[in-house]
Amino acid sequence: MHIFLTGASTGIGNAIARELDRHFAGSAFFSLVSRRKELLEALAKELDGRAAVYPADLSEPAIAETVLEQAVQEHGPVDILINNAGVQHIDHFTSIQNEDAEKLLRLNYLTPARLMRRVLPTMAERNNGTIVNIASIGAIIPTPYMAEYCASKAALAALATALAGEYKDTQIHFLTVYPGPIATAMAEYADTRYGKGVTSNVPFGTAEELAKEIRIAIAKKKHKLIYPAFYRGADLFRDFSIWLTAHMAPKPK
Ligand SMILES: NC(=O)c1ccc[n+]([C@@H]2O[C@H](COP(=O)([O-])OP(=O)(O)OC[C@H]3O[C@@H](n4cnc5c(N)ncnc54)[C@H](OP(=O)(O)O)[C@@H]3O)[C@@H](O)[C@H]2O)c1
Repeated sequence: MHIFLTGASTGIGNAIARELDRHFAGSAFFSLVSRRKELLEALAKELDGRAAVYPADLSEPAIAETVLEQAVQEHGPVDILINNAGVQHIDHFTSIQNEDAEKLLRLNYLTPARLMRRVLPTMAERNNGTIVNIASIGAIIPTPYMAEYCASKAALAALATALAGEYKDTQIHFLTVYPGPIATAMAEYADTRYGKGVTSNVPFGTAEELAKEIRIAIAKKKHKLIYPAFYRGADLFRDFSIWLTAHMAPKPK
């Protein structure tokens, strides 16, 4: 069981690796990818040798593909691909530099798309495989001052949903995850942009609980996971939630 996991160094990705390692009781092998080598190595050490680390900047899709190819050569075909690495910008749309916006799009959308295009033929040949994409509740309820982040996550979610249809007659399983606010470094970044405590009145989840829900959703072959559960209501009443978010969203400093 070869699991290729991006954004494994911290937060949700780190929690997913630990959760799946526990679940598969040591029988899974992880290819861990992100930029910070020391953090990946610390995780690999905890996984007791059941992991290889591939430090790489995934905002370059061609680099991401090369890393994937290397991991496949060294550890065999990928059974579970988890596109988790991502970055967020919180600012007025016109204040964000083109270069930064385009880098975000490459990391959050183009790299996951490239990795899926690379693993799918082999998964189809073997008629087996799981692809997990970590989108965001912002893909369903686009949030002011996170416009391009939400657009990138909506693109990723739409791609994965369409692909699930394209592969519906196979045993390849697509799971799209729509997290609401989760207490990770990304939430700390939001604090620096809005001011501490501004987002404290919205329901938050933890990376560990989300990882557990993802593990269960993989086992049950679910296609969609919204966590924390509070945000499932936002999905049900999408138009109202978009209206509310447009009126209530805080402005960055
Ligand atoms: N936290 C939330 O509230 C929330 C809500 C909805 C969705 N999400 C999504 O959940 C995913 C994980 O985020 P998180 O909350 O766990 O935040 P996080 O702790 O900041 O994790 C982000 C991960 O992405 C990696 N990464 C960032 N830029 C990269 C790059 N250029 N190349 C390679 N790896 C890169 C980081 O590793 P390195 O820095 O080592 O490269 C890190 O492992 C993201 O896709 C995020 O959009 C988070």
